[in-house]
Amino acid sequence: MGTIKIKEIKVKSPLAKKCAGIIQEYSWGDNYPVKAWSELKCARYIIAVFDRKKIVGCSSVTRIASPDKIDNGKLWLANAIVLPNYRKKGIFKLLYNKQFKYAEKYNEPIFSCTSNPVIEKFLLKNRWVLYRITKDESGEMCKVFIINPTQKHLKKTHH
Ligand SMILES: CC(C)(COP(=O)(O)OP(=O)(O)OC[C@H]1O[C@@H](n2cnc3c(N)ncnc32)[C@H](O)[C@@H]1OP(=O)(O)O)[C@@H](O)C(=O)NCCC(=O)NCCS
Repeated sequence: MGTIKIKEIKVKSPLAKKCAGIIQEYSWGDNYPVKAWSELKCARYIIAVFDRKKIVGCSSVTRIASPDKIDNGKLWLANAIVLPNYRKKGIFKLLYNKQFKYAEKYNEPIFSCTSNPVIEKFLLKNRWVLYRITKDESGEMCKVFIINPTQKHLKKTHH
């Protein structure tokens, strides 16, 4: 692994489409009924991790990531993905910390949805709570988590 850097990517940058390609390929799959770009192009904030010029992970903050559309309009941490060769080196945590810093400025409850047990464990450890269980656009079960950074007792987080 070379030099790892984390940067904001503007939606208009060609790199944003690259991020969507990575999300589609390594997370959602080509057969998923929604195209990653259709969601990512509406993101409020996109961040990517680079190994030199190569994007090796990305994530976003958006208001349209609800898997069943309920709670769209709220803030969502979304699209976290790290390329297989770069996993278990703390890159997801870099992405999460930057997403969270951006989102908490709004002083609103923050939502995130996952079916990945690694992410679930991470969120629960960082004071998120299970909000509801639903199905995503492909009919797969996924869990919606919530954290409310405006509540003082939740401020003592690990980021
Ligand atoms: C899930 C994913 C984003 C994790 O990225 P990562 O860069 O490997 O994660 P990190 O190295 O920052 O590790 C974060 C935490 O998860 C743990 N972890 C990561 N991969 C793990 C694994 N395979 N098994 C168990 N724990 C794991 C780490 O130990 C760390 O725990 P800690 O907070 O106790 O230290 C990555 O595996 C991935 O892209 N998966 C496919 C896409 C996906 O499912 N995205 C999530 C959509 S919601």
